[in-house]
Amino acid sequence: MQTITLTRPDDWHVHLRDGAALRAVAPFTARQFGRGLIMPNLATPVVSADDALAYYRRIQAALPEASRFEPYLTLYLTEHTATTEVRRVAEDPRLLALKLYPAGATTHSAAGVRDLHRIYPILETMQTHDVPLLVHGEVTDPAVDIFDREKVFIERHLQPLTHHFPALRVVLEHVTTREGVDFVRAAGPKVAATLTAHHLLYNRNSLLAGGIRPHYYCLPVLKREEHRKALVAAATSGDPAFFLGTDTAPHARSAKESACGCAGCFTAHAALELYAEAFEAAGALDKLEGFAAHYGADFYRLPRNRDTVTLHKNRWRVPESIDFGEDRLIPFRAGDYLEWQLA
Ligand code: NCD
Ligand code: ZN
Repeated sequence: MQTITLTRPDDWHVHLRDGAALRAVAPFTARQFGRGLIMPNLATPVVSADDALAYYRRIQAALPEASRFEPYLTLYLTEHTATTEVRRVAEDPRLLALKLYPAGATTHSAAGVRDLHRIYPILETMQTHDVPLLVHGEVTDPAVDIFDREKVFIERHLQPLTHHFPALRVVLEHVTTREGVDFVRAAGPKVAATLTAHHLLYNRNSLLAGGIRPHYYCLPVLKREEHRKALVAAATSGDPAFFLGTDTAPHARSAKESACGCAGCFTAHAALELYAEAFEAAGALDKLEGFAAHYGADFYRLPRNRDTVTLHKNRWRVPESIDFGEDRLIPFRAGDYLEWQLA
């Protein structure tokens, strides 16, 4: 039996939701990862340090008793965010970053930013206090094709932003395009990107060919094969600017399998297995540890985890569905076989 042992990984982009959904999904992330950076796009967004610390306590309460998983929180940037909140993030070790959602770009983003220039004073303060900015990098301009929204966001907004704030640490979250990879590579050590397992494994055919498959629908949407290849090349290159962020984003089955289905793939039940599959297919399993366990911690200036996890080559079947409060949750690759299994 083939096995790989690596430093315990962290997930630098996680949606844990709240209430019954939080209690249902938190154990999956906690089983795989040492730490997680929890996204703030709740139905009522996490906009202040006080909100984030209250959410931190709800997450702690939802974790299994013996869990040593450490959640880190992010604040949701709005055009009304006060600079005092940035200072609180800088001072509290449980708070790591602020997240920019362009208004209307994705799930619960209505309270997000409409005009980036309005938050330039906040970005200035973040740069001064060395607080990272996490970016959902898509324009919401209805005139821009959905498959081009990341590329256009980089040209119109991210290039000027990183130029204006050269010392600001920025993460282009869930990068999905060749243009995104090229931007991060050219930008220098202050700019990084997270990569999801599903964008490393699939292109837009999986979403649209032979039937519309709502469980492959997420934002940013899956792209063409040439983009998937660029993402795999970045993830397996050993470049520390690219690290693991699953973007696991649970939605109830009824909300996904709908005439207007929600965006998000739930991958926390098999995150490392899915990444291992992608790295193995690229002949780069030796690059998995840096990507999954080292570069993200280094970027956030946290110590690397000291314990390890082991993956076995052992075929197992993903459950058809998972408890999700009142509804069911369909895990990514439901009913399908995976070759790697976390011990
Ligand atoms: C995320 C969600 O549902 O919260 N959905 C998604 O498709 N990735 C939001 C996000 O990260 O865009
Ligand atoms: Zn996300």
